[in-house]
Amino acid sequence: MTIKLSNRIQLVKPSPTLAISNKAKEMKDAGLDVINFGVGEPDFNTPDYIKQAAHKAIDDNFTRYTANAGIIELRKAICQKLERDNGLKYDPKQILVSPGAKASILDVLMAVCDNHDQVIIPVPFWVSYPYQVLLAEADPVYLTTYQVDGFRVKADVLESTITDNPTAKVLILNSPSNPTGTVYTQKELEEIAEVCLKHKILVISDEIYERLVYDDSRHFSIASVSPEMQEHTVIVNGVSKAYAMTGWRLGYAAGPANIISYAGRVQEHATSCVNSITQMACVTALLKEDDSIEAMRLEFDKRRNFLYTELVKNPHLSCFKPEGAFYIFPNISWYIKNNTLGIKNTDQFCEKLLEKYHVALVSGSAFGIEGFVRFSYANSMENLVKGAQRFSEFLQELRENS
Ligand SMILES: Cc1ncc(COP(=O)(O)O)c(C=O)c1O
Repeated sequence: MTIKLSNRIQLVKPSPTLAISNKAKEMKDAGLDVINFGVGEPDFNTPDYIKQAAHKAIDDNFTRYTANAGIIELRKAICQKLERDNGLKYDPKQILVSPGAKASILDVLMAVCDNHDQVIIPVPFWVSYPYQVLLAEADPVYLTTYQVDGFRVKADVLESTITDNPTAKVLILNSPSNPTGTVYTQKELEEIAEVCLKHKILVISDEIYERLVYDDSRHFSIASVSPEMQEHTVIVNGVSKAYAMTGWRLGYAAGPANIISYAGRVQEHATSCVNSITQMACVTALLKEDDSIEAMRLEFDKRRNFLYTELVKNPHLSCFKPEGAFYIFPNISWYIKNNTLGIKNTDQFCEKLLEKYHVALVSGSAFGIEGFVRFSYANSMENLVKGAQRFSEFLQELRENS
């Protein structure tokens, strides 16, 4: 007997970033020297001061279920962090600790969206947003952004998108951005906030890459625009990226108490609390930070500069210089249009690159846009040097066959 699957689940496709990583892993296991730029996680180890706090939690037998929304020490530590780094005051009742920022976003969407409410997603987007919206049985509305604008949402375009989509309820904003590395300025966020307030749009502000900003860019949370905007924002953040803790699974949402309380209800019946040991370690991560966190940022910055410089040496390639996160998103559309090797889209470009040159990238199509590829520079300098070289050789081959 075949059980018919739900309509909801049939809309959801596997994560494309995982698909390329799996293929690269298979090739690696078969003995090939594959350089994988597909991975969205720091290649550093979790800093020792955080690991020690986890050891202590185990030794203290801190191993039972905790409050669903997170232990009070951690929710207080998150409030302190939000005040210290973002100038925002929250009460622990306004914080939900979840198994990853990914879970926080889904919980919030489930709590605020009704069937066919519209959720505005700027393109290019992080791969999970559309599927999370579909899982919440809401409708994604895509708002195109352009390389010439640094992939930024413009307030006037946002306004017309909202006007054209009268059941728009939520905007998902991601700064610093995956995949482009865009970091919005305070002024840009003020303009976006004005439109959101006028149309009563809730912003889910995904700030998971907050700590990874470079040059003159500064992270600013849209919730900091005004107290009114704070009431229209749910900040989502976590420890995965800045503290190299992807496998520990801890993220959080901070927002209006009623939304947080109902998002918590989703979590209560889905996963319950985050692992107690992880929670204890994160109190230390947030309150007792040492210089290992800044050292990782500096290393990412070095790699970003290297990769950007190497990539833009290639003729017919253009690239927005990332201002944050650990991704770079070059425009390779000329090569798709001009090669005679039968490569007709960005997926085929990535497949051929992996097959022939053993370099794994993620196709722009995964992020809703053709003609771009994403490198993650959460990889060793040695691999960046080798990978950039192989990538250039591939482009040269395409030019020779144009
Ligand atoms: C933009 C963005 N948001 C959220 C997440 C999820 O983070 P977490 O590991 O906390 O679930 C990621 C991870 O890749 C991401 O890139």
